[in-house]
Amino acid sequence: MSHIRQPIIAGNWKMNGDLASTTKLLDEIRASQYQGVAELVVFPPYVYLPLVQSKLAGTNIRYGSQDVSRHETGAYTGEIAATMLKDFACHYALIGHSERRQYHAETDALVIDKCHAAHQAGLVPMVCVGETLAEREKQQTEQVIQQQLAGLLALDHAILNQLVIAYEPVWAIGTGLSASPEQAQTVHAFIRSQVANHNENIAKSMRILYGGSLKPDNASDLLVMPDIDGGLIGGASLKAQSFLEIAKSWPN
Ligand code: PGA
Repeated sequence: MSHIRQPIIAGNWKMNGDLASTTKLLDEIRASQYQGVAELVVFPPYVYLPLVQSKLAGTNIRYGSQDVSRHETGAYTGEIAATMLKDFACHYALIGHSERRQYHAETDALVIDKCHAAHQAGLVPMVCVGETLAEREKQQTEQVIQQQLAGLLALDHAILNQLVIAYEPVWAIGTGLSASPEQAQTVHAFIRSQVANHNENIAKSMRILYGGSLKPDNASDLLVMPDIDGGLIGGASLKAQSFLEIAKSWPN
């Protein structure tokens, strides 16, 4: 089976693990000599990026940061600049994860600034969008997604051509309650249609990942959907076995 878009299986480790467990996880991922169709990506906590860089050297596994500053440099205590992430050979920068939006009051405008900062330094932005349970119950899913996409679609084509979108319904993150394949497909198709209204070619090539309680036992049903181009995985990415099992659920 050929794929128009190379799928991505990405692990978002969030603020989990320590030096010992992260070393073990990386050793196990590396030892698997994964050769599947999907591009494998990990998002470790910042401080483990040098470790990730050395452990994954010589593999085709990519990695990125869980966030990035909107600023280039200067007096921004606690922030990490995109150029610093590039120094450690990050490929992606995860931007606008719902936990950043929720606990750090990140706005759509900030997400756009971060996309610019990432792109400027040569990082590929992977932007998360998704509705809360209350918004879904009020039938506002499409409206919310449309709003989150509006600024992104106004980005330069140079950025849009690379941009990866992760649809992560907030109610499915870390709850064990994933979206059904049909629910996810409906929103993914909606996202792609919004992008197509802007530019059809970009819509055809854009990777749109699903995230939210993705596990080995629901992965193949979700990943087989036509507009789902991979997954962003939290909990199940903390164990090499379940992470790789999800990656291997792609039809070869
Ligand atoms: P989860 O997290 O797989 O633990 O639900 C997904 C995410 O937040 O990216």
